Amino acid sequence: MPYTVPQLTDFSTAALDSAVHELLSALEQESAAVGAENDWKAFRDRWIARKNGIFTQLNDLWLKAAPGSNKRDVGQRVNELKPQIEQAVNATYARVVSGALFKGRSVGRARVPDSAQDSAQDRAVPYRDESDRLDITLPGIRRPMGAEHPVIKTMNEMIGVFRNLGYSVEEGPEIETDFYNFEALNFPPNHPARDTQDTLFIAGQESKPPRDRLLLRTHTSPVQIRTMQKTKPPVRVVCPGKVHRNDALDATHSPIFHQIEGLAVDTSITFCDLKGTLDHAMKAMFGSSVKTRFYPSFFPFTEPSADVQISCIFCDGKGVRDGAPCRNCKASGWIELLGCGMVDPNVYGFVDYDPAKVSGFAFGMGVERIAILKYGVDDIQLFFQGDARFLGQFL
Ligand code: PHE
Repeated sequence: MPYTVPQLTDFSTAALDSAVHELLSALEQESAAVGAENDWKAFRDRWIARKNGIFTQLNDLWLKAAPGSNKRDVGQRVNELKPQIEQAVNATYARVVSGALFKGRSVGRARVPDSAQDSAQDRAVPYRDESDRLDITLPGIRRPMGAEHPVIKTMNEMIGVFRNLGYSVEEGPEIETDFYNFEALNFPPNHPARDTQDTLFIAGQESKPPRDRLLLRTHTSPVQIRTMQKTKPPVRVVCPGKVHRNDALDATHSPIFHQIEGLAVDTSITFCDLKGTLDHAMKAMFGSSVKTRFYPSFFPFTEPSADVQISCIFCDGKGVRDGAPCRNCKASGWIELLGCGMVDPNVYGFVDYDPAKVSGFAFGMGVERIAILKYGVDDIQLFFQGDARFLGQFL
């Protein structure tokens, strides 16, 4: 017999208690009997429909019927029943819907063919509808994102520092002529300075004049020449790129590596401008507490020339770390980082600039070397081995 709301005549506490109890157990039983969404709709209407739902009937059959002295007590109980009934209706819905999802999935699984016959049937009527094939409860497919290689990242960071100073970016060929790589940079043929930058030459060029013979560029400095040939001063450029040397590979050398070249030529550029520019760039890359020092050096295409050293970032320039001599700067407190100098007037002769009117500076640095220091990498080879366990640390 389905539950019907009784017409109350006895309003004693005991009688009310038992009426409420009877209603709640009917609610529970009927909720448990709901198996599908359509059953649930009937269940909902039976209990909370505005017109004739059980809850509405409580007003007429219990509350309105109660004598004055019992109205408060009955009213309170009816009010308490309201959220309980609503809660039961909602919970029943949740159960019915999640059960439907679960069934949907097991139907999907059962569809996996386990015999040739099944599979033939499956092909005939592959899916009842589109929603049947998509299992939205499975996790999505994660596609790992690529990341900038630490060398390229360092290169872009350095380029950014110079872009902010108003420099533009120039690139040049990796296979260069002897003229651009050496001669126009004031390395005369057979000059011993060429020995410091031994490289690979393209074979079979004996018939060409020496200056036209092709080689793998040993530095990015030829891009200085190419830039000055095609632009009139003032010039402010950085030239990033790959370079080659006949070097045996070890923890700090690689026959292929990257450089960033810089060139500034104008009417009154001095060594002070060079110092200030590089001091700023090193601070931008390694932190504002880093100091720079310029140490006399030699390059055929700059005069005077200098090697730039920065105060050791591992021992803060003290030469001592944790009570022991600092290994990174060999206890000197300084780390050598790049070459630079004022452009040699002879170079202007190769690009049609008037050395009496213009002056400028140039610098060149190894990108891997900077990345090694910045990220504390102990072997340059790690940059070229493509090992995702190493590269993944730079995401
Ligand atoms: N090209 C030089 C080298 O590779 C570096 C350098 C560039 C030095 C510009 C001075 C000026 O060693």
